[in-house]
Amino acid sequence: MKAFWTATALAVCLAGCSTVPNEANTLPAVSGQTSEEARIADLLSRMSIERKVAQLVQPQINSFTAEDMRRYRFGSYLNGGNGGPYGDEFAEASEWLKLADEMYLASVEPLEGNEPVIPMMWGTDAVHGHTNVIRATIFPHNIGLGATRDADLVRRIGEATATEIAVTGIDWNFSPTVAVARDDRWGRTYESYSEDPAIVAPLGAALIEGLQGRQGDPDRLRGQHVIATAKHFFGDGGTDQGVDQGEVTGDIESLKAIHAAPYPAAIDAGVEAVMASFNSINGRKMHGNEALLTGVLRDELGFDGLVVGDWNGHGQVAGCTNTDCPQSLLAGLDIYMVPDEWRGLLETTVAQVRDGTIPMARLDEAVGRVLRVKMRAGLLDEFVRPSQRPVAGRYDLLGSAEHRAIAREAVAKSQVLLKNNGVLPLKAGATVLVAGSAADDIAQAAGGWTLTWQGGGDLDNEYFPGATSIWQGLKAATEESGGTAMLAPDGDYTTRPDVAIVVFGEEPYAEFAGDRKNVAFSDEEGLALLRRFEAEDIPTVAVFLSGRPMWVNRELNAADAFVAAWLPGSEGAGIADVLTGTEPSTGRLSFSWPRGCDAGPVNGPEKALFPVGYGLSLTQRSSLPMLDESCDALLAASGSDWFVNGRFEQGITAVAGGVALPDLRGAGGGVTARGIDRNAQEDSREITFTPGSALTISQTEEGEGAYRIVYRVRQRPQQTVTLTTGSATLSLTQPLSVAAEKDWREMVITEECASGLGNELTIASEGAFTLDIATIERDNLPEGTACSF
Ligand code: BGC
Ligand code: BGC
Repeated sequence: MKAFWTATALAVCLAGCSTVPNEANTLPAVSGQTSEEARIADLLSRMSIERKVAQLVQPQINSFTAEDMRRYRFGSYLNGGNGGPYGDEFAEASEWLKLADEMYLASVEPLEGNEPVIPMMWGTDAVHGHTNVIRATIFPHNIGLGATRDADLVRRIGEATATEIAVTGIDWNFSPTVAVARDDRWGRTYESYSEDPAIVAPLGAALIEGLQGRQGDPDRLRGQHVIATAKHFFGDGGTDQGVDQGEVTGDIESLKAIHAAPYPAAIDAGVEAVMASFNSINGRKMHGNEALLTGVLRDELGFDGLVVGDWNGHGQVAGCTNTDCPQSLLAGLDIYMVPDEWRGLLETTVAQVRDGTIPMARLDEAVGRVLRVKMRAGLLDEFVRPSQRPVAGRYDLLGSAEHRAIAREAVAKSQVLLKNNGVLPLKAGATVLVAGSAADDIAQAAGGWTLTWQGGGDLDNEYFPGATSIWQGLKAATEESGGTAMLAPDGDYTTRPDVAIVVFGEEPYAEFAGDRKNVAFSDEEGLALLRRFEAEDIPTVAVFLSGRPMWVNRELNAADAFVAAWLPGSEGAGIADVLTGTEPSTGRLSFSWPRGCDAGPVNGPEKALFPVGYGLSLTQRSSLPMLDESCDALLAASGSDWFVNGRFEQGITAVAGGVALPDLRGAGGGVTARGIDRNAQEDSREITFTPGSALTISQTEEGEGAYRIVYRVRQRPQQTVTLTTGSATLSLTQPLSVAAEKDWREMVITEECASGLGNELTIASEGAFTLDIATIERDNLPEGTACSF
């Protein structure tokens, strides 16, 4: 007779036992067989359709409660890039562990009858260290690691990352990205190790071995190891014009030879999960592509782990919605990542199994794959709650000195020296001026996927306890050599320096928000500083932070030395290590560097200023010839886009009740703005006004043109809503009521109804009201164009 958990057993356990006995799930249960397959068959034979489907549904932490977990028993869940435990993305590590325990215990409460209890797994995006969590070590993004070519280093990064993940009780990492980025306009170029699959493959495999442990090692997937995911299968880096989640076209064998090429190495390294990609290939979304998800990944490449979908990726398949998509499961997806709409998807999928749309055999196969991975990870052997596992709660390991040393080594090895007239290595005892607003900005050095999904914004250095900015590293190294270092973001100095180091580059971004129309680096802060020092005859070193190679001919011309520093992360001292010559300069480009600023893939040798493999050692000198500084893309005035792709254009700000809402996100003065999905994740905002609140969005510089706002109203306003710009105040109550409960539509505000359009828009509401906004742009429309709503 089987014994089952009782309420008392649970109560005892909540009070602190580490191993939760559960005989209903103790295996083997069938005829003395102990093989993985027999155990899986036994579990499947005892599971209801509802519980099976729940193994395939992955919601995000802020969309369900422990009670939901108890009731539905999701097989796994995730925290998205903007998700943290109990709604706080800056929560201390102990809160992450607490949530892990809470969900775990809910997932292993006894079930009626003979139904087996299957513990949940928690998946996270630790794509450059466990960087959703405060204090974690932040490693360079993959583009920098590609420049190291150092698989052993990447393996150690994997181990350190896995340990930090395990400290917080999380089981599974959605990393490495083994994309082969072929068009640097793509916003995820920095997640790619290289444009060359031969560089990507061994580094991806090394990270997997570090995260999971090596094949055959007794502690593989145990203890300080976590489950890894090779993503995104496949073609993510091959979309036309580098558009995120876009279309990949071409002969399938040639596409495989580039974009699927890293997967055999990942599979050999034992990767237990693969994430399906958002993109389509020759017109078919990967999430519904049986020929590729099953035909290629399973049958041809022999992958036997689980295939997880990407964030509502199934909803993009033709004929699917987020809550209804048997197509994906039938094509070979095993887990649906369905952050918010999990309830609808559960219900629909159960019904589709019942009516035969989804054959039981396919359901069992998918569930079996999830169970197999759990079994291999030891999750089904004995029930040990997250906080009782090795290293869980060892907060001293989060951002430990040892892990930071690995990160610093990675930073040093990833610096690629593109130009050096002889100013490097810096001379001992020199007076060094460090300029540029990025010099002392850890968030900028860390890039996207850092504490928040997009990174940057108002994350000042206080958010990074234990980290070292580039400036701090330079200061320490300079002083150690007997010199003097001065920080001057704006370049002003009182003591004339021997050398000026100018740190500048791209502001953080993630995913499609980083897509660009061209690779021209247009921000001129760094350029102005370099030119000013050049005019003053002060030698300069340019340190360029970026998630991709960019056209920087003007800066290359102006600087005496130029270092591509990528997105180094929390250990800025690694940069000083190279600039001072404490460490050699061994980084070599894993991406070709563009000669021109025009749009287009930059991989061809004829278009490269520096080819893959380029990089100077500190003893080499190179004076580049003057490079062409003309760039049409710089002339094409932008600035008319205020809010697109979920981001503000530079110089656009939002304020409510005196509180800034960067990228139109956050809360202040009774206004709350949160990300919602229109065409892509969080490309739009839901703005909730409490009675009497107002939101102002404005442009720092003088702008021009009519406003075009794409918006949606779910419920008609009950009281007056106004829009003020310049000297005009319009009542929107009537048009917003007409727009209510309809789809997205456009509002055009011209001089016709708002004479003297200002550089400022204020929306105020007398009553409680919610307005969704997708885009805000300014456009020069023909004179006399009427307003429309
Ligand atoms: C979420 C992030 C998530 C990202 C994935 C966003 O909408 O806020 O948490 O990681 O989508 O694309
Ligand atoms: C990204 C994935 C990520 C997932 C979960 C998606 O938008 O494409 O790389 O793992 O969100 O945050």
